[in-house]
Amino acid sequence: MMATGNTRSGGFLVLCAVIVTCSADPGHRQLFIQVNPGSNSTPPLGDLLHVRAVGDNDTLHFLFCSQGAPTLLFVHTNSSSSNVQVNWTQFLAPNTSGSLKVEPESSVLYSSAIVFSRLLEYDDVNNTAEPTSEFFPPYDLQNFTWNRLNLSGHTALLCGADASFTNGSLCLQLSVFDSEGRSQSLPHLLHSVNSSQLELRLDGVPARAAQSRFLLELQAVGGDYPLSRMEVHESIDDEYTPSIFKVSRWVSSVNGSSDVLGFAQWKPVAYRHDCPALEDATPCRHSAPRAQSGAAVMAASGLIRGFFSDPESVALNVSFGLAGEPFYNSTHFLSWTLLVGVGSPPVDFFSPLVVAIMAVGLGTPLILILVGGVWVCVHKRRAAASYEPIN
Ligand SMILES: *[C@@H]1O[C@H](CO)[C@@H](O)[C@H](O)[C@H]1NC(C)=O
Ligand SMILES: *[C@@H]1O[C@H](CO)[C@@H](O)[C@H](O)[C@H]1NC(C)=O
Ligand SMILES: *[C@@H]1O[C@H](CO)[C@@H](O)[C@H](O)[C@H]1NC(C)=O
Ligand SMILES: *[C@@H]1O[C@H](CO)[C@@H](O)[C@H](O)[C@H]1NC(C)=O
Ligand SMILES: *[C@@H]1O[C@H](CO)[C@@H](O)[C@H](O)[C@H]1NC(C)=O
Ligand SMILES: *[C@@H]1O[C@H](CO)[C@@H](O)[C@H](O)[C@H]1NC(C)=O
Ligand SMILES: *[C@@H]1O[C@H](CO)[C@@H](O)[C@H](O)[C@H]1NC(C)=O
Ligand SMILES: *[C@@H]1O[C@H](CO)[C@@H](O)[C@H](O)[C@H]1NC(C)=O
Ligand SMILES: *[C@@H]1O[C@H](CO)[C@@H](O)[C@H](O)[C@H]1NC(C)=O
Ligand SMILES: *[C@@H]1O[C@H](CO)[C@@H](O)[C@H](O)[C@H]1NC(C)=O
Ligand SMILES: *[C@@H]1O[C@H](CO)[C@@H](O)[C@H](O)[C@H]1NC(C)=O
Ligand SMILES: *[C@@H]1O[C@H](CO)[C@@H](O)[C@H](O)[C@H]1NC(C)=O
Repeated sequence: MMATGNTRSGGFLVLCAVIVTCSADPGHRQLFIQVNPGSNSTPPLGDLLHVRAVGDNDTLHFLFCSQGAPTLLFVHTNSSSSNVQVNWTQFLAPNTSGSLKVEPESSVLYSSAIVFSRLLEYDDVNNTAEPTSEFFPPYDLQNFTWNRLNLSGHTALLCGADASFTNGSLCLQLSVFDSEGRSQSLPHLLHSVNSSQLELRLDGVPARAAQSRFLLELQAVGGDYPLSRMEVHESIDDEYTPSIFKVSRWVSSVNGSSDVLGFAQWKPVAYRHDCPALEDATPCRHSAPRAQSGAAVMAASGLIRGFFSDPESVALNVSFGLAGEPFYNSTHFLSWTLLVGVGSPPVDFFSPLVVAIMAVGLGTPLILILVGGVWVCVHKRRAAASYEPIN
């Protein structure tokens, strides 16, 4: 009896902690969005998007560019008035670095970038989903023809194609956020004000074999601390991404400490339809991060060349589909979503629905005990009172 009581009040304390944690102020940022800042003509090769996300005492700059391989650069400063300066003459030249600066330079706390470098395709003849030797020549994303950015609200859509794609396209949709929340479509990733979301869509790409599967090569680039360590965490199975129990986290930290400076985070799942339903899910996997040549990534991306002078680069492959899963050919569509940001990545917690169920499950017995206790007390008093005259 005592043990049960302790467990229940313990549960109640946990519940209180849950509610307090959930209601902590997640912060706000004011967003300023600009295309090709400081340029008086549209650049010939690709647009540069600049999002200034201004907090109380800091600014987070997101820069997204398709001069070469599509690149998202994020820079955290400790000033709410820091800004980006671009020397466009230099920025458009293929052989200069240092043309894009975040000023004042002393305010920069952290910077890192993700480059979408290559799309790889292999013929999975035995349906093992083990990428072996059957690779087709890779698509180099730096050689794609990229359309102009399509900006609407807090999202920017960049689509491009290889010359061989006929009607197919590879699109990247960047979303930036002024408050905490969760994306509308699967996998409903949770975001904070310190992150932005990128969704990759491979739509109608002509498969070079009936049993083709795809891989995406990502490069993380940083001056001192690029994303380097891969972590896979257990995640809760909630109503947002049902049946996905893991979250993959690619983090940057100082000398292996547990403090995270920057991150890319995703659920290991892709979807085979636009506007996906649960049954369109297909698992994805990642390879171990490997150090790459900084010079190669500078050559591939104009934004990396403009911002970093001596970058370090780490790369990994994300592969879509497992043995026995339908091939790309089945729908000619794949989408995959990742979250990129600074500081600690947002962690899924029990949803309000689950919290409500817990509250009912734990709270009701507690209320019954309390009501029961009060009733017993009152009853005893009454009993005592009614005995008095007999004295
Ligand atoms: C966002 O970053 C700022 C500055 O590092 C920090 O104070 C704040 O707590 C972070 N907010 C969230 C929700 O992580
Ligand atoms: C911002 O800085 C001011 C002055 O340094 C300080 O009073 C204030 O508490 C800071 N605000 C936050 C949210 O850190
Ligand atoms: C931009 O770079 C060019 C070439 O290096 C240089 O001539 C010019 O003065 C620079 N412009 C500014 C505003 O710094
Ligand atoms: C960049 O290339 C241009 C023309 O190809 C050349 O004139 C210029 O000297 C080069 N600059 C550097 C820094 O190599
Ligand atoms: C911002 O960071 C720089 C470099 O870390 C430091 O020198 C400066 O004092 C900081 N400024 C504020 C207002 O915290
Ligand atoms: C497919 O299976 C056949 C027969 O088991 C084997 O000879 C062949 O090497 C396999 N191909 C690949 C790419 O694994
Ligand atoms: C992409 O362009 C670069 C630079 O022009 C070239 O070196 C590379 O071979 C091209 N890649 C493909 C797959 O054509
Ligand atoms: C731009 O995006 C909007 C909203 O996503 C869409 O309706 C429109 O067709 C797009 N325009 C182009 C040229 O792709
Ligand atoms: C490409 O699109 C055009 C016009 O929508 C259509 O007529 C054509 O059949 C498509 N080609 C392929 C290979 O899907
Ligand atoms: C799958 O791809 C192959 C080779 O490109 C093509 O011949 C076949 O018709 C495709 N199958 C479907 C169902 O689209
Ligand atoms: C990280 O380690 C390197 C070499 O092991 C050392 O030079 C550097 O000072 C360390 N950085 C920090 C912030 O501890
Ligand atoms: C990605 O996979 C391709 C094909 O197996 C391989 O050549 C490349 O080195 C891989 N990239 C990384 C970063 O592991």
